[in-house]
Amino acid sequence: MLTRSLVLAIFCTLSVVIVRAQDLSIGGEWKFMTGDQPGWEDAAFNDSAWKTIRVGAPWERQGYAGYDGFAWYRRHIVIPSSIRNKVFLKETLRFDLGKIEDGDEVYLNGFLIGRNAGLPGDIKAGFKRMERSYLLPLSDPHIRWDNDNVLAVRVWNGRRNGGMYEGRYGVSAMDVTDFITLRPSGAAFRLAGGKPFTRKVVLISSSEKYLFRGRLNIRLTDPFSGVVVFRQTINANFDHNRPFEYTYITPLPESKSYRIDYSFEDNKSGQQLTMAEDMPYILTPIDRAAPRINGPEVYGVRPGAPIQYKIPVTGQRPLTFQAAGLPPTLHLDRQQGILTGSLAEKGSYTLQLTIKNGAGTVTRDLTIVCGEKISLTPALGWNSWNCWGLTVSDEKVRASADAMAAKLADHGWSYVNIDDGWEDKRDAQGEIVPNGKFPNMKKLSDYVHALGLKIGIYSSPGPTTCGGYMGSYQHEDQDAATYARWGIDYLKYDWCSYSEVAPKSPTLEDAKFPFIVMKQSLDKVHRDIVYSLSQYGAAEIWKWGGSVGANSWRTTGDISDNWGSLSGIGFRQDNSAPFVTPGEFNDPDMLVVGKVGWGPLLHNSRLSPDEQFTHISLWCLLSAPLLIGCDMSQLDDFTLGLLNNDEVLAVDQDRLVRPASKVLNRDSLQVWVKELSDGSKAVGLFNLKTVPLKTTVSFSEMTLPSSAKLRDLWRQQDLGRYRDSFPVRIAAHGVLLLKVSAVK
Ligand code: GLA
Repeated sequence: MLTRSLVLAIFCTLSVVIVRAQDLSIGGEWKFMTGDQPGWEDAAFNDSAWKTIRVGAPWERQGYAGYDGFAWYRRHIVIPSSIRNKVFLKETLRFDLGKIEDGDEVYLNGFLIGRNAGLPGDIKAGFKRMERSYLLPLSDPHIRWDNDNVLAVRVWNGRRNGGMYEGRYGVSAMDVTDFITLRPSGAAFRLAGGKPFTRKVVLISSSEKYLFRGRLNIRLTDPFSGVVVFRQTINANFDHNRPFEYTYITPLPESKSYRIDYSFEDNKSGQQLTMAEDMPYILTPIDRAAPRINGPEVYGVRPGAPIQYKIPVTGQRPLTFQAAGLPPTLHLDRQQGILTGSLAEKGSYTLQLTIKNGAGTVTRDLTIVCGEKISLTPALGWNSWNCWGLTVSDEKVRASADAMAAKLADHGWSYVNIDDGWEDKRDAQGEIVPNGKFPNMKKLSDYVHALGLKIGIYSSPGPTTCGGYMGSYQHEDQDAATYARWGIDYLKYDWCSYSEVAPKSPTLEDAKFPFIVMKQSLDKVHRDIVYSLSQYGAAEIWKWGGSVGANSWRTTGDISDNWGSLSGIGFRQDNSAPFVTPGEFNDPDMLVVGKVGWGPLLHNSRLSPDEQFTHISLWCLLSAPLLIGCDMSQLDDFTLGLLNNDEVLAVDQDRLVRPASKVLNRDSLQVWVKELSDGSKAVGLFNLKTVPLKTTVSFSEMTLPSSAKLRDLWRQQDLGRYRDSFPVRIAAHGVLLLKVSAVK
């Protein structure tokens, strides 16, 4: 029996162009029955009394609201032998069955052809969000060519949406190129390092029989000029046991993205596989040896609340920290740079920090503002959702905290936030108990704090969370007290099932109510807990989120790692921007850079390198919380370069907190301008087109002074003085992020 998952689509995460014929569509209506009985997989079973259901939409939306448990889908199909006859490589028949929530077993004519798309684990393990593709040898005797066949799918759903939905539905014979995985890899290109660019290409065959003989073509093109800067063709032979690997090295003229086209031409079949990627490149310079103080210039605390703040500093170790003007109730660890203690009285306390190492000394003020507001600048941290989804665990959170401490904290990153999936039930006293993946929340929190970081948690005002776990409904005081006892510093509070208990057509007061309740509970505990609301931007929350005591609120639905989602969210944030003030932020959702996947399987972000520069630049211009959504244990140099640019992060952390406004929208060029506290402006010029843009922008159309000094923030390079206008070259979906200072 052959039950392999098709890995091809998972690995080719770049802009892959593979067109596959869908020979027989099996979308549309299937027979359906809830429950689970032996014999339902049998081809001879009479399903005429079963109802019909559409695949492509969860069963909850088709008359089975709230149903969790087993259910079966059945479909009669005639598989024409023409499918087999027309392919060159007569090896494998493939069944695409969309995505299934949560687990599945698939039978063809009573014969099990696969379970959970080849992943280990029983049907209840739940591999939702993953494409289901099952393969059978064309010679398999269970296939009844040109006759009636029965596909029967046994589905298990544990909570929320269930059934066969999203994705492709079809039966096809795989041909030569369907068996090839073409995988480029290698370090991102950094011009500052002066090294030639090296990249490896691997060709892997999943065919057990075929010997691939052909040619691999590689072509690098400068997207601005169209000039091919590198081209190579090599013979490439490979088979199932012997992948083909080739490493190419080429010096590149500039630090910008190049398009790389790959194609493999197979001699015997004449078929061709093509794929393209935009080369990842690093703009952020390497940290200097001399110390540099990062992070915000202001830090909010509440009277009496315990303080733990690690001063973020880059530079060679060891460092020594000193602070003049330190109030007697605060303590500074002179080696680690961690401030602890508390302040009893409201007021502003300005410390003059001096930090030294073998390469130099740096000084800067840090103002601690003791009052009712915390999180005076947007939170910088990580959240488990965009990578691990509901598969988050203690172990994964610790690994993220370790990576943050080692690689990001010096640039100001500090929150390690657990999203949905940690909860279990309430005990006899009504206290929330974490599930088996989190053996001891207090110990986990101690672990994160010992690294100088902070820890966040997630809940819902409703009876259950969006993932179907226990929410805080009618246990708000108790939960806030539990979080404080565990040492929690951040709460994401997600509307989810609150709709079930809210009035049918909620008024504005109804929309605010559950968030006020939790705020009152949080106020009863003597701990600074950043309060982050998630209700997807309903009821124009940006107009009232601050008034219910929130530090941030989602302005949109969930983000995903594609340009449509990113640009649809990011470039529409101008309406809500005017409502942002220190401690009250719009949250356009978490970052989709690095390895994401909503768990358990991860892939590289499907955004191109330039789209990722756009993502970070725009979020910083918007004064948005930056919550990294990727697997932190697999941070590559490109992603680190995106996250650790201190001049870019300083735009986000600017103490004035004046989100950018869109000042120009001309022919797919958008310009967003943000006022900074030093009187200068951060300016993002975004090219929304799929081709590079060369143009000249006038300072007046960007609302800038007629004579100005420009600095490229990603490259951290001065560009000089300009009068009246500035010539720009911006990559497809890319950005130029400038700091503009008036020249007197
Ligand atoms: C909602 C939120 C997500 C995430 C999930 C968890 O969809 O918008 O960010 O928290 O719930 O179930």
